[in-house]
Amino acid sequence: MTDLNSFSMKYHVVIMYFIFTLAFTSHLIILQPALCWIWRLLSYDEREVCMLLMNALLFKIKLSTYLDANFIIRYSRSGDRFGQDWVPAECDVSIRPGWFWHASEKPKNATTLLDIYYKSVGRNCLLILNVPPNSSGLISAEDMQVLQEFTEIRQTIFSQNFAANATVTASTVRGGLGNPQFAPSNVLQESIYSYWAPEEGQTSWEMLFDLRQSTSFNVLQLQEPIQMGQRTIKFHVEILVDELWQTIVEGTTIGYKRLLQFPVVEGQFLKLSVDSARADPLISFFGIFIDPFSVTYSLENHDKPFLVNSEVIMLRTDHSSGNKSTATM
Ligand SMILES: *[C@@H]1O[C@H](CO)[C@@H](O)[C@H](O)[C@H]1NC(C)=O
Ligand SMILES: *[C@@H]1O[C@H](CO)[C@@H](O)[C@H](O)[C@H]1NC(C)=O
Ligand SMILES: *[C@@H]1O[C@H](CO)[C@@H](O)[C@H](O)[C@H]1NC(C)=O
Ligand SMILES: *[C@@H]1O[C@H](CO)[C@@H](O)[C@H](O)[C@H]1NC(C)=O
Repeated sequence: MTDLNSFSMKYHVVIMYFIFTLAFTSHLIILQPALCWIWRLLSYDEREVCMLLMNALLFKIKLSTYLDANFIIRYSRSGDRFGQDWVPAECDVSIRPGWFWHASEKPKNATTLLDIYYKSVGRNCLLILNVPPNSSGLISAEDMQVLQEFTEIRQTIFSQNFAANATVTASTVRGGLGNPQFAPSNVLQESIYSYWAPEEGQTSWEMLFDLRQSTSFNVLQLQEPIQMGQRTIKFHVEILVDELWQTIVEGTTIGYKRLLQFPVVEGQFLKLSVDSARADPLISFFGIFIDPFSVTYSLENHDKPFLVNSEVIMLRTDHSSGNKSTATM
């Protein structure tokens, strides 16, 4: 097994087939890492995310009649908004080019790991990072250093939520506007057990955030109370600029955790609109952050199209981004 990137598609399809066959006999559907890994890689250029629901029967029919790799990849990448089967997804990735340690190889750097984090954890998947022991049976010092840097840059980004003190209102609240159980402000607490719920039977759902002061950010974190199901199918977020609402980002599903990156924007008022949902949408977290490490989303790249590619993500070393106080790379 060399680089996972060069894994042949056939190999994955065969793995999938066996997993699903096994899963069906036990009535338990578990999607194995190899499966999800390849979607993530292939979906690098897409602003898509895993809907963790599928129609497993359809999948099985497609697999057993003919190996339609394109269908399978498309289907497994996007999930199925009408699916009835819960299919948790895992993303396996190695910190090194291959699965095992070689003296001649170097670990990925922390910004590349951050990119992988956005595209796995930030797309509603579990990230499993392989860190192979060296020939002494120990984790190499350079791998440990990268892991520390990776931790530090994540802490730097996610320790300050600029929406933490926002005033939140919503189009409706279940049980009435004053009902604390489903209050819009519940989305500021980082817990999936406190969430906003709209009144039943609505066709549009909106949340308005007053940040109390003009704020710059380039990362958005959204969460659904996943124990109540993955409900959102389509949403978008807008910012008020010069008295006009402008869309910053739009997306499909949210799920347990969704991280969205975009060029730096600045404003005081934000609006989250759920455009389509399987059932009354529920939101458990809304946070905004500044990421100075992923260069793609910096101010300088404002005019460039969205480019989600690990190659263009690197640490900003210029002074405009401030000092690299926590990460040295
Ligand atoms: C393996 O890692 C340990 C701890 O970082 C280090 O002391 C040792 O020299 C490494 N072995 C090799 C063969 O690089
Ligand atoms: C929110 O309020 C707390 C307590 O007053 C304060 O420590 C924190 O810095 C504020 N956060 C923001 C983003 O304004
Ligand atoms: C991290 O690795 C990527 C991919 O190899 C590279 O393009 C990027 O320049 C590196 N970033 C830093 C800060 O070294
Ligand atoms: C960056 O660090 C240098 C040297 O420690 C310091 O003089 C400068 O004020 C710092 N700049 C910022 C933006 O913190």
